[in-house]
Amino acid sequence: MSDVTLEDIASLCKRRGFIYQGSEIYGGLSGTWDYGPLGIQLKRNITNLWWKTFVEDREDTYGIDAAILMNPKVWEASGHVSGFNDPLVEDLKTKKRYRADHLLEEAGVEGVTKMTPDQMDAAIKEHDVKSPDGNAVSDVRQFNMMFKSSIGANSDSDDESSVVYLRPETAAGMFMNYKNVVDSFSPDMPFALAQIGKAFRNEISPRDFIFRVRELEQMEIELFVNPETWKENFDKWLQLQMDFFLALGLPAEKLHQIEVPAEDRAHYSKHSIDTEFDFPFGQKELAGCAYRADHDLTAHGNASSKKLVYTPKEGGKPYVPHVVEPTFGVDRVLLAVISNAYTVDEVNGEQRIFLKLPANLAPVKVAVSPLLKNKPELVAKAREVYAMLKKELGNVMWDDNGNIGKRYRRQDEIGTPYCVVIDFETLEGKEGPVDTVTVRNRDTTEQTRVPVSDLLSLFNA
Ligand code: GAP
Repeated sequence: MSDVTLEDIASLCKRRGFIYQGSEIYGGLSGTWDYGPLGIQLKRNITNLWWKTFVEDREDTYGIDAAILMNPKVWEASGHVSGFNDPLVEDLKTKKRYRADHLLEEAGVEGVTKMTPDQMDAAIKEHDVKSPDGNAVSDVRQFNMMFKSSIGANSDSDDESSVVYLRPETAAGMFMNYKNVVDSFSPDMPFALAQIGKAFRNEISPRDFIFRVRELEQMEIELFVNPETWKENFDKWLQLQMDFFLALGLPAEKLHQIEVPAEDRAHYSKHSIDTEFDFPFGQKELAGCAYRADHDLTAHGNASSKKLVYTPKEGGKPYVPHVVEPTFGVDRVLLAVISNAYTVDEVNGEQRIFLKLPANLAPVKVAVSPLLKNKPELVAKAREVYAMLKKELGNVMWDDNGNIGKRYRRQDEIGTPYCVVIDFETLEGKEGPVDTVTVRNRDTTEQTRVPVSDLLSLFNA
């Protein structure tokens, strides 16, 4: 497993219809990826589990779905217009642009994460760091990562009032709806808003497949707390975040909670713990948990002149709640799940690749095949079993392509936990008709005979 590379994973994802390069026939668009039929199903299985865990199964969380386009004042007040930057340098010859911190790290310079842009500039000069093409680079400058567009009938003019941004985090939509939800639902404190949706970041150098992209998806929670209780709530939700990763089948030994040093924290955070995961290309950030204190509600309250406060039901003075934010990148979570599931073993002397996905995440629950596709009686019986399973389980695949060995290999690669094969014994039985089928287990490759009437309980187990 340790030899598995990101290229192996990306290649399987493309070959088997999980993830394709965005706009591929035009040469692609850097930092964008398209989820294919199996990729979107796996993604849905992850996001649905998240929604069930954090919204449906809880009393204290309210799900919302806010607009991606927001009044630009939102991003001025939140500090993103002035502070959502990455350090950029330009190759003086090719004019290609790079992240200064990435170039320094690749040149083996230590302590880069603690450097200010000015210090990076000095380090580039001191260590004579060049671009990947071997050319000198410009001074470091701050590059704002928000995608800017314009809205409405004035959008073809230079009118600054038509500026809009694609949201760089889903969080702001929840701060915009804090007051709405308090007014509609009178929640007890603490309570949370939760949202799943797209966010956009004009990353200087998208890289590592779906790890660093320009169009991403986030699952975020904004927990509103009494300021005095922020730490206990932070610890509780950090644990809930870890529990979710374990429920996805990610092993505890590959998950690392790392406190983010002050100089490395986002501009809104007073304390952050990232969860890092052992990806095939190293230990990298999977998700975060930030204590945003009153940064957002105070800033938006002041800028909008609306009172974004909480009035205790038991009496006492209204106060601005503080915020604890567990945030999850959907694409990174999915990459962690696939990386963890990617397994290579040997079957009958041949190398086999399979995705050892937990059954509740597998995009296809069961594949159904007739042993031979040119035998109408086998096909008819297999169709009957397929229809019955599909009605009950949903994601069941009909697979009669190639010989049975090839079908098993294909289903292994997409992580299908069980293959059901209808053969002559199904129709006749060795001692008269018995309604049994062959069920082949993905992980053990073991084949057993199971009565059709027992299939649902086996797959639902
Ligand atoms: N609202 C807080 C927030 O956005 P963040 O650490 O900037 O915090 C949260 O992003 C999560 O979103 C990250 O932990 C990561 O999983 C994911 N993420 C951030 N930038 C990403 C990118 N360019 N590509 C893929 N995922 C990204």
